[in-house]
Amino acid sequence: MLYKINTYGCQMNVHESERIAKSLENLGYSLATEDNYDIIVFNTCCIRDTAEQKILGHIGKLKKIKRANPRLIIAIVGCMTAQNGKAQELLKKYPFIDIVLGANNLEELENAIINLQNKHKKTISVPMDEKPQIPEDIEYTRTSMPNAWVNIMYGCNNFCTYCIVPYVRGRERSRKPEAIIKECEQLVKDGYKEITLLGQNVNSYGNDFAEKSIDFAGLLEKLAQIPGDHRIRFMTSHPKDLNEKVIDIIAKYDTLCKNIHLPIQSGSNSILKAMNRHYTRENYLEIVKKIREKMPLCGITTDIMVGFPGETEGDFEDTIDIVKQAKFSGAFTYIYSPRKGTPACEMEQIPYDIKSARIQKLIKVQNQITKELSKNYEGNIYRVLVEDVKEDGNLCGRTDCGRLVTFAGDKAFVGSFKNIFITKSQSASLFGRITEE
Ligand code: SAH
Ligand code: SF4
Ligand code: F3S
Repeated sequence: MLYKINTYGCQMNVHESERIAKSLENLGYSLATEDNYDIIVFNTCCIRDTAEQKILGHIGKLKKIKRANPRLIIAIVGCMTAQNGKAQELLKKYPFIDIVLGANNLEELENAIINLQNKHKKTISVPMDEKPQIPEDIEYTRTSMPNAWVNIMYGCNNFCTYCIVPYVRGRERSRKPEAIIKECEQLVKDGYKEITLLGQNVNSYGNDFAEKSIDFAGLLEKLAQIPGDHRIRFMTSHPKDLNEKVIDIIAKYDTLCKNIHLPIQSGSNSILKAMNRHYTRENYLEIVKKIREKMPLCGITTDIMVGFPGETEGDFEDTIDIVKQAKFSGAFTYIYSPRKGTPACEMEQIPYDIKSARIQKLIKVQNQITKELSKNYEGNIYRVLVEDVKEDGNLCGRTDCGRLVTFAGDKAFVGSFKNIFITKSQSASLFGRITEE
């Protein structure tokens, strides 16, 4: 029996697909290498309409396949299904779906499959509980060696007015620090060289503990002290909550990567207010300044959205201006997409061609900055974790500050740290060679 998992969306979903893989393996399934699977699980995303349309297109294609093979099991899980009325909508449109679960009840998957096999019973279960219990004994089939994902918290309390995440993932729930530390210690013993901590807003870690016994800085410090030759990353930071204490801890420990993903969304104060982000462009630039004062080589990356309702040409120019000032080492840029049930969806929308022109201009400006920053790497040596072999046989990996580097070498080097001398840069890409220095 073979399985396939189609994963969409963020790292949270990539990691949760490792949990789904484990559930399927517990039932005797193994990973399909071709299109000969007996079960297919869609781990879905609904952050933007484009994500949803892509997924629906892929589900639609299964109609024919299911007709040819009625024993094929089709499960749709994750964020998309938890939107109001979505599960019913999916079943109506695609009656051949067997299982629908939300992002917060993936533990039901094994039973759902057993019920389908033994009793021909479909499971459609998307609980709308805002604070579901978080299990601590989850097992994963990890697929990203030498990196391991570690969830430190679930859900989000921020309700940015454009965002669907709090509605589909519920409120913030932090995992117990002891459980996180134990998991990370084990991962290091198992040979993982990089641990990436995950949460929608890692800086509010621990806020939900009644006794306020630990915060994110405290957790980071404990994890930084785990002995071993490895490094730790984390995402995502919210500018309203990233404080000096966290910056100081990152600066203090070599095990903590000098790389911070700090989504700005917009450079206009009135748009930031309408987005319910709780910081101003001045606050944001102040944090960037503090980070650079303490860690001059820290890579700061961001997410930026254009075309939020009410965004004027002046607001957009404020975004361009802050991008030029902040000098991000990379930026994920998005066109605002109205999400049903969020406040911004009810506001007056901006025509698509304006949004499209703005994103193109933004990408051009950021690309130029990335290109200029890349030049600074040439001629220097960086410690890189070798992560993978590329299709052309070259190796690739990331610097501590998060830049991707390509270089020649033995594929046995994957999973080890190497010093790389950067010989050349091309827009966002760096090229180099292994050096013993
Ligand atoms: N929790 C993270 C991000 C989660 S979503 C944070 O707060 O930064 C990842 C990114 O998708 C966001 O940073 C935002 O830039 C983008 N995004 C979220 N909702 C969106 C929407 N409705 N339309 C377009 N982009 C969106
Ligand atoms: Fe969405 Fe805002 Fe929460 Fe990030 S912080 S997940 S953008 S509501
Ligand atoms: Fe998408 Fe859910 Fe992540 S909506 S971006 S998969 S939290």
